[in-house]
Amino acid sequence: MRHLNRPLLALLVGLLTALPTVAQTLRSPNGQFELRFRLTEDRTPAYSLFYKGQAVVEESRMGFRILPNIDYSSGFRILSHTERTSDTEWTPVWGQYSRIRDHHNELSVELEQEKSQRRLHLRFRLFDDGLGFRYEFPTQPHLRHFNLAEELTEFRLTGDHTAFWLPADYDTNEFPTTTSRLSEVAERMPAVREEGLACKSPSPTLAVQTPLLLKTAEGLYISLHEAALVDYPAMHLNLDDRRFVLSTHLTPDKNGVKGYLQTGSVSPWRTLIVSDDARDLLASSLILNLNEPCALEDTSWIHPTKYVGVWWEYFTGGGSTWAYTDTQDIRIGETDYSQLPPNGHHGANTAHVKEYIDFAARHGFDAVLVEGWNEGWEDNWAYAKERIYSFTRAYPDFDVEELHRYAKAKGVKIIMHHETTSSALDYERQLADAFRFMNAHGYDAVKTGYVGPLIPRSEHHDGQWMVNHYLHVAKEAARHRIMVNSHEAVRPTGLCRTYPNWIAQESARGTEFESFNGNRPDHTTILPFTRLMGGPMDYTPGIFEGDLSVYGSNPARLSTTLAKQLALYVTMYSPLQMAADLYPNYERYPDAFQFIKDVAVDWDDTKVLEAEPGDYITIARKAKGKEEWYVGGITDENARTAVIDLSFLPAGRTFEATLYADAKDAHWQTNPKAYVITRKKVTAKTVLRQRLAPSGGVAISIR
Ligand code: NOJ
Ligand code: CA
Repeated sequence: MRHLNRPLLALLVGLLTALPTVAQTLRSPNGQFELRFRLTEDRTPAYSLFYKGQAVVEESRMGFRILPNIDYSSGFRILSHTERTSDTEWTPVWGQYSRIRDHHNELSVELEQEKSQRRLHLRFRLFDDGLGFRYEFPTQPHLRHFNLAEELTEFRLTGDHTAFWLPADYDTNEFPTTTSRLSEVAERMPAVREEGLACKSPSPTLAVQTPLLLKTAEGLYISLHEAALVDYPAMHLNLDDRRFVLSTHLTPDKNGVKGYLQTGSVSPWRTLIVSDDARDLLASSLILNLNEPCALEDTSWIHPTKYVGVWWEYFTGGGSTWAYTDTQDIRIGETDYSQLPPNGHHGANTAHVKEYIDFAARHGFDAVLVEGWNEGWEDNWAYAKERIYSFTRAYPDFDVEELHRYAKAKGVKIIMHHETTSSALDYERQLADAFRFMNAHGYDAVKTGYVGPLIPRSEHHDGQWMVNHYLHVAKEAARHRIMVNSHEAVRPTGLCRTYPNWIAQESARGTEFESFNGNRPDHTTILPFTRLMGGPMDYTPGIFEGDLSVYGSNPARLSTTLAKQLALYVTMYSPLQMAADLYPNYERYPDAFQFIKDVAVDWDDTKVLEAEPGDYITIARKAKGKEEWYVGGITDENARTAVIDLSFLPAGRTFEATLYADAKDAHWQTNPKAYVITRKKVTAKTVLRQRLAPSGGVAISIR
């Protein structure tokens, strides 16, 4: 440098500083998406996203603020950038498709903060259905352990889109979805928060949850979420409702820290699935593609499951209880329950469970879920208590050995239940014993539950500590060949690809809310576009007796017709499906029940025939390894005619279709159980026009 003259030096410096702000562009394989990346004037990384030439996300900033107050988002220079194309296929253990194509173009950018010499890498992947990008923190001399004050990723939207949103909350996703303009979120937020559960931790800022669905005035659908949430808190989205800028709002811990990181790690992917056809969102595998391949060597023990259970009776108001006794003085591990007076209506008793095992065996179900089998339910609302349940001690009237023998003889599995009432700490203490107990007594699946506020006290369901807890449970379960269905856990982000034993989750309002009059007719026309984008849901459909007043004390009524309950087995994708009603209700309607018995839970292929979020969904799926197809069509509170084009069938052959449809006079409020079953010969040329009642549905099996 000493030998260079001043004007030349100025020119060189000018060139060098100008260079990093030159934009990189990347196109999706089909050319419809374009990503632009550059450093802004203050050298902050920024990206924008275009679809068919129109902006979806305008230039949006990226980066972090590190504690105590260190800028890790500006003053960067580009060290290098690399582009790569990848086109591969993989086979999921279970899923909506038997093969999944992962075709994307990738841009990776290596950045260094000039003053601090801190490094930060960015990786963008553009697929034909959208974008994923993440931060990577390489090991480096000037940064090792660091804590996040906040992630600063922005999503600068192009206008006042319609949003299908849940209020941001660190502990629950069990809200009804509100549909409104982004500009109306602020005004509606207070009332919407009231509709959540009692135990909730609203974000102090104006923020919403992901998966967030947006629809633009031009008819573009945008789904915003994250993939591969590992060792990092879940993301909410702050809302600037004047300029329509969303920005990341990570779930804090009790000290307000938004993540404890070490270099040599990566952030979750931020995902944008975009199309002008709503059906494409439901068909997308983008989030799965951004997750790591299966981490388990042997997956032969993982099996999609259709089950019944001792469950709905706890919600009907019929009097059945999880708890064994009404006695108040319980000390878990010390109390001798055999000395206590039973309350006389404990659900999980041996004789009653046997009835369900018999029913499951008679009708070809794989498993029976039993809740309320273990000691501790007397204290299940004791929210601040560290140890509430035992996961190895059964109530005196639940004979573990005998039920194991009985179920095994009938070829049925019993699904274990571990409600933790969010004492995750105590669950971890008991976990090894609990899983050994399961292995010893023939259980290969567990439903976990995290009702109420957390222990460790002041941690959150969506925080990093709990994100690590759920994954720890899934991994430990895999070591014991146990499948996991977690309720009230952080919403899924596609980790079921890597850990396919994490077979389903709840993480939204499921059927249980029908017993509190908490689900609206449009609920299940929205969930596939929001909650299900991250992974399958244990929605527990199949309620035939929707008038709960018949059981005595609960005035609630189902928000759908009976035919719509059948259609949900197809529209709500999950490899774990429950027939949730009391079994005598299935015996009353054996012809309609036949559909639940027949419908598959694992698929070779999926065709989304019709879809509009909040209005209707019609999906056809081919059963795995079989020449059988199942179709489900649902509508919101408005009646409609579903147009069901069967051109997905193999050409030149005739099949028999059985249609389970709303009767002419069916209506979810006045006549929900009116259905008709008809049979028809169909071919690939058939187009069925089927009327759906208000909040009605149609289910079709084609064989
Ligand atoms: C809430 C779960 O979603 C529900 O399925 C379960 O029965 C109760 N918690 C009790 O664990
Ligand atoms: Ca729940």
